[in-house]
Amino acid sequence: TTHDAAAARGAQVLVASNRGPVSYTVREDGSLDARRGGGGLVSGLSAIGPDAGALWVCSALSDGDREAVRRGVGEEGVRMLPVPADVHADAYNGIANSVLWFIHHLLYQTPLEPVFDAEFRRQWASYEIYNRAFAEALAEEAAPGAAVLVQDYHLCLVPGMLRELRPDLRIGHFSHTPWAPVDYFALLPSDIREQLLRGMLGADRLGFLTRRWADAFTACAAEFAGGTGSTRVGVHGLGADADFLRERAHRPDVEERITALREEIGGTDRRTIVRVDRTELSKNIVRGLLAYRQLLDDHEEWRERVVHVAFAYPSRQDLAVYRDYTAEVRRLATEINKTYGTPGWTPVVLHVKDDFARSLAAYRLADVALVNPIRDGMNLVAKEIPVVSDEGCALVLSREAGAYWELGEDALVVNPYDVLETARALHEALGMGPEERAERTKRLAAAATALPPARWFLDQLEALREGQPG
Ligand code: G6P
Repeated sequence: TTHDAAAARGAQVLVASNRGPVSYTVREDGSLDARRGGGGLVSGLSAIGPDAGALWVCSALSDGDREAVRRGVGEEGVRMLPVPADVHADAYNGIANSVLWFIHHLLYQTPLEPVFDAEFRRQWASYEIYNRAFAEALAEEAAPGAAVLVQDYHLCLVPGMLRELRPDLRIGHFSHTPWAPVDYFALLPSDIREQLLRGMLGADRLGFLTRRWADAFTACAAEFAGGTGSTRVGVHGLGADADFLRERAHRPDVEERITALREEIGGTDRRTIVRVDRTELSKNIVRGLLAYRQLLDDHEEWRERVVHVAFAYPSRQDLAVYRDYTAEVRRLATEINKTYGTPGWTPVVLHVKDDFARSLAAYRLADVALVNPIRDGMNLVAKEIPVVSDEGCALVLSREAGAYWELGEDALVVNPYDVLETARALHEALGMGPEERAERTKRLAAAATALPPARWFLDQLEALREGQPG
């Protein structure tokens, strides 16, 4: 198998993440169906691929994945860890997505959250087991002196654990999320705070998407771990993959979806406001819909003349709070359509079934892109839309997205909590003249592609090796 082959020669470069490049489902006839994973991490890392000779260690996330491991089915250069389903559920849903994600995105709602109780401690024990499984697999697979790049908040303890098992390795960790400010990180129990920080500081080098998140980490380390010690901290602002996107966005399946989408939009000269997200609390989809409703309220002239194309793909549906949020998105979209819709005009076209080709179709057609997260490590959608836009697209962008620091000058910047401001920005964006829009889109696309995924990855590898003695 791939695993034995890699172990025999030992991999020189290893990547570790919870979600890997593919996920499997078992079809009714018992065969396995492979799908590309979603989210910024996979979009970024997929560009590296097995061609680069890297071994990607990831987790079996579903029954289909565990079945694939059992059958020895897999992709070249990928090793899936069949962590027991209950351990994974605790570590992924319980700790990573309910605690760490909420801490870094400032998502807790007082007075009920957070509660660190016995249940939390039980889940934390799973998080440790989960991290240990990665550290052991990496220790087993890595050639002497190899470089290991650990990804994200699911695996904060891996660098420290791996350092103990294999002091010879060069270890990096990269965060695809924001990092919490000191006062918010302080909500975590003190021993957990320290364990997380010490785990990450086991790395030679830590990477973040913007200076803002890197500084927040450094401040937390200073406050709770006596500083960053010998660990270096760097910034790598992952960009969009222009070559891949432009080629992919002109394939026949995308053209087909453009035709279908045009029909749903109706009317020949209607403008579109496009958003594409995982249905994710931090993406702020509900306030986006509220802002759109406000726009229709304040500016009757846009009724019948604009359609909000909102793709909100299912995410983390094991968590009740995500299911409730999904229901609220649907409810509000329906309500807006009932209130304002006419026989020939559906104000909100909402799709919840994940379809990458249709996302690209919407990217190409967008007159306005709405990217209004409460907080976001980077937000690749804001970078991808200007790259494939057919006729230029005005970007309404939250100042709390990492992308703001790279794209802010040519976007219409909003406070994501301010629905009225967002509505005004949508109005302004819809009214932007074609020349200005095209000019801005060109500059946005240039900024968005400054650091393509392959370069982003190689820069980190180089920086990791630079610190190498000798
Ligand atoms: C964010 C995280 C990634 C994660 C992605 C999708 O981008 O930083 O680590 O893979 O969301 O979320 P999921 O829980 O489906 O992997």
